[in-house]
Amino acid sequence: MPWLRFFNLLLPLSVFLFLCLKRYALASDPYVFFDWTVSYISASPLGLKQKVIGINGQFPGPVLNVTTNWNVVVNVKNDLDEPLLLTWNGIQHRKNSWQDGVSGTNCPIPAGWNWTYQFQVKDQIGSFFYFPSLNFQRAAGGYGGITINNRDVIPLPFSVPDGDITIFISDWYTKGHKELRKDVENGIHLGVPDGILINGEGPFRFDSALVSDGIPFHTINVEPGKTYRLRVHNVGISTSLNFRIQSHNLLLVETEGSYTVQQAYENMDIHVGQSYSFLVMMDQNASSDYYIVASSRLLNSSSLAGTTGVAILHYSNSQGPASGPLPDPPNELDTFFSMNQARSIRWNVSAGAARPNPQGSFNYGQITVTDVYVILNRPSELINGKWRRTLNGLSYFTPSTPLKHAQQFSIPGVYKLDFPNQMMNRPPKLDTSLINGTFKGFMEIIFQNSDKNVQTYHLDGYAFFVVGMDFGVWTENSRGTYNKWDGVARCSTQVFPGAWTAVLVSLDNAGIWNLRSENLDSWYLGQELYVSVVNPEIDKSEIPMPDNTIYCGLLSSLQKDQSQRFKFSGAASSADAFHSIVAVLIMTLMATFIR
Ligand SMILES: *[C@@H]1O[C@H](CO)[C@@H](O)[C@H](O)[C@H]1NC(C)=O
Ligand SMILES: *[C@@H]1O[C@H](CO)[C@@H](O)[C@H](O)[C@H]1NC(C)=O
Ligand SMILES: *[C@@H]1O[C@H](CO)[C@@H](O)[C@H](O)[C@H]1NC(C)=O
Ligand SMILES: *[C@@H]1O[C@H](CO)[C@@H](O)[C@H](O)[C@H]1NC(C)=O
Ligand SMILES: *[C@@H]1O[C@H](CO)[C@@H](O)[C@H](O)[C@H]1NC(C)=O
Ligand SMILES: *[C@@H]1O[C@H](CO)[C@@H](O)[C@H](O)[C@H]1NC(C)=O
Repeated sequence: MPWLRFFNLLLPLSVFLFLCLKRYALASDPYVFFDWTVSYISASPLGLKQKVIGINGQFPGPVLNVTTNWNVVVNVKNDLDEPLLLTWNGIQHRKNSWQDGVSGTNCPIPAGWNWTYQFQVKDQIGSFFYFPSLNFQRAAGGYGGITINNRDVIPLPFSVPDGDITIFISDWYTKGHKELRKDVENGIHLGVPDGILINGEGPFRFDSALVSDGIPFHTINVEPGKTYRLRVHNVGISTSLNFRIQSHNLLLVETEGSYTVQQAYENMDIHVGQSYSFLVMMDQNASSDYYIVASSRLLNSSSLAGTTGVAILHYSNSQGPASGPLPDPPNELDTFFSMNQARSIRWNVSAGAARPNPQGSFNYGQITVTDVYVILNRPSELINGKWRRTLNGLSYFTPSTPLKHAQQFSIPGVYKLDFPNQMMNRPPKLDTSLINGTFKGFMEIIFQNSDKNVQTYHLDGYAFFVVGMDFGVWTENSRGTYNKWDGVARCSTQVFPGAWTAVLVSLDNAGIWNLRSENLDSWYLGQELYVSVVNPEIDKSEIPMPDNTIYCGLLSSLQKDQSQRFKFSGAASSADAFHSIVAVLIMTLMATFIR
């Protein structure tokens, strides 16, 4: 039969074509591989020796420097004495909540084990960070930056900077994370931090009465006349910080994956879990070095003066050390200043970002809202004799089986899809209650903060549009004040005390996604929930569960012991090499089909 012969010819040809395509796919979306060992290391950020969490011996950890659409493979070895998960704050993991690294999607990596994350930074640009998501570990470090560069084909909305510098600012306690979490469990307030760190280091001795001698501080070296992009992340646990540089303006250009309208600020309030990029021009005469300052914001306490974070900006032609008073902060308790500043941050709707079309072409203001959630934060309260935090009266109960596993294996009773869309008139309780998100729906969330501290709320898997914030109680009329045009799309937002913040989010990413307070004390006491988004049309809309999944809880019988298997170093045998080639092939095939 001639057609059969033709088919015989066609088959190898199509395989050949397929392989070419596959190679093309591999070439256009590169893979980068990392081996990270997470372990305690010794450091003295405030002059006192402490156990901090390092990555490959570094504190802060390395910056994951990648480009839009790259595939990232990180083999994480847990050398701590307790379970670990790293989460990638702001990475959207399109259709792949399996890699999100929070308790609802992954079993913790037991101490002594390793687990390999693999994800694509699909359609993203910008500045984010990763951190350990369990057990209050972020209070001990374990964090690092994620930088996603534009593809070459999409120009930046500003001239290419002369350098790219990542800066972590954070409150810091001399107590270890285990002690801190015990305190939080027992209703003991964290209190004023012992210091503010900049890139894991303590303050420069700007005042000999306030800062003791011999504390190592951070120095950033720059060349006169050049412009640097500073990516500043508040990786702390509960303190809002004000960031500023003596005699230098901060030109805001990006926040959490969106290019902003470029505006100059003397200082910027950066709340817990938030990230900003600024362009800073080295336009001063270098008569001396300059202070880089991170100081606590909106904390009503007199004992804060000694806790200011101070690093040094050193021009190569500097004439001497920084001196004089620190640059002035805004009025410590002026929440209005802070809110007005937040409102002034707007989206550059005409800039291209991960895709060449302008960011604003999505036109979120024209989309009809399908679901509304008004989510109320209350101060800590006792539930069944334990200190807890709630959202709409529910404190999240972490089941031993991740939600995502329960969904995959259809295990009933692990969670319910009944998160209330407003505060209910009933006593607060512990529950595992999820928002049943409507796939391709457009959700409006109003966060209402009736506590005394600023809270930052963060949604995994998405960027949301921050459309409004104001003091008082949100009502339907508040919608009249929404910014329907250039509210910035980002993954976190602050909610001021006694105020509300409204966000809009397009639920186009199937998965189970964590919505949490970034303030570690609130989160640890249960202030989180998950949003389940299921694509009902095609059951293959999500990337399948990875082969290396760790099982726990009701599925622990599926888990093989790993204790003998871990090995990073040593020459890989040819069998290993063969296996990795096969693995890469399979991954690529999968990626091609999924596309
Ligand atoms: C990040 O990677 C890009 C190339 O992909 C490189 O041009 C750039 O210098 C790197 N940035 C840093 C801070 O290492
Ligand atoms: C643990 O690390 C080994 C050696 O690099 C690797 O072959 C293995 O796939 C890793 N295990 C998991 C579950 O990622
Ligand atoms: C917005 O982005 C465009 C396009 O990249 C750029 O030319 C423009 O300067 C930006 N506008 C502002 C106000 O930042
Ligand atoms: C450098 O600038 C400082 C602050 O603006 C000024 O006081 C000083 O006189 C300047 N020095 C020189 C050499 O221009
Ligand atoms: C700050 O604290 C003092 C007492 O410590 C109190 O009198 C004052 O009302 C507080 N101010 C605010 C704005 O909370
Ligand atoms: C969740 O929402 C979907 C529609 O989006 C609906 O079909 C399903 O019944 C809901 N599940 C529950 C438990 O309410």
